Amino acid sequence: MTLRAVPVGIGHYLPSRVVENAEFEKTLDTSDEWIRSRSGIERRHFAAEGETTSQMAVAASRAALDMAGLTPADIDAVVVATSTPDLTFPSVATMVQAGLGMEGGFAFDVQAVCAGFVYALANANALVVSGQARRVLVIGAETFSRIMDWEDRTTCVLFGDGAGALVLEAQEQAGTAADRGVLATDLHSDGRFRDLLYVDGGVSATGSAGVLKMEGREVFRHAVEKLAETAYAALEKAGATAEDVDWIVPHQANLRIITRTAQKMGVGMDRVVVTVQDHGNTSAASIPLALSVGVERGQIKRGDLLVAEAIGGGLAWGAVVLRW
Ligand code: ACO
Repeated sequence: MTLRAVPVGIGHYLPSRVVENAEFEKTLDTSDEWIRSRSGIERRHFAAEGETTSQMAVAASRAALDMAGLTPADIDAVVVATSTPDLTFPSVATMVQAGLGMEGGFAFDVQAVCAGFVYALANANALVVSGQARRVLVIGAETFSRIMDWEDRTTCVLFGDGAGALVLEAQEQAGTAADRGVLATDLHSDGRFRDLLYVDGGVSATGSAGVLKMEGREVFRHAVEKLAETAYAALEKAGATAEDVDWIVPHQANLRIITRTAQKMGVGMDRVVVTVQDHGNTSAASIPLALSVGVERGQIKRGDLLVAEAIGGGLAWGAVVLRW
């Protein structure tokens, strides 16, 4: 028998303000047609004034706990992937812990930008399989609207805000590729590429939050090259192949990247969960948001084999294979 981290609940939260592409036409030299054709994005949600990453994370967590039929007291650990915390410290995860009314357990943040949820999932899985936590709340939550340069049309039209949360539970499984739960993880980073995607402010460098800077074309090139590769590596570790995959749940940055990666893997778009049109790029929140929406739509069903893959600032990238 093998201890696996099995998904038992998923939920999400999106701020109520929806901004359609056309709204950017009023202030920028851009068009709905350009944004749609280059990125696949049609609209995104933006947090209300004063609405924070931890508040969105709490809302998503409550939904995930409801689905799992659990209470906050059942959770041993909270892992939050975010690059847009409420404050420099304490961690968003401890704010979520308090927001849910938890009095025990432990909580910490993971920072791997758009690959954050994949990294958080790998960490949560390690906690479960090593016996350090029985139930882990894994969250991706971001308010990227707070680090946008609203005069830079090459970046500000691409991002959105939101949160998704997943509850993982330790369960004994047979130890085969047919098991439910996290079957394999594959993580990479290469700090030599830091200038391709970064925020130009921070505590020790400038004492300010800064704004996002991106060499879009270069990031695109790396994404197309690296995402299929890491997905394949994770599948191989899991003892599965691309043919076995029921759903690719990709980081939702750009529809063209999502499509090319699926093509490279020989997986039809009818087996890819796509939400980028409605959410934009929500960084670490995009995969749990897509998981939650995929379940809500009835696409992802119990027993389905999923591959989640992402790349972001760092560069950092990776993939997780799990059976729902
Ligand atoms: N409206 C109109 N024109 C625009 C806009 C806009 N919003 N933005 C850029 N343009 C112009 C450019 O100025 C350029 O004009 P020029 O040819 O006169 O110089 C032209 O459109 C083409 O620009 P490109 O950057 O070459 O456009 P491209 O087709 O590469 O699409 C995009 C840009 C959407 C950013 C794409 O490169 C991309 O998605 N890259 C990857 C982003 C990504 O995956 N990020 C993931 C990680 S995010 C994270 O970690 C936080």
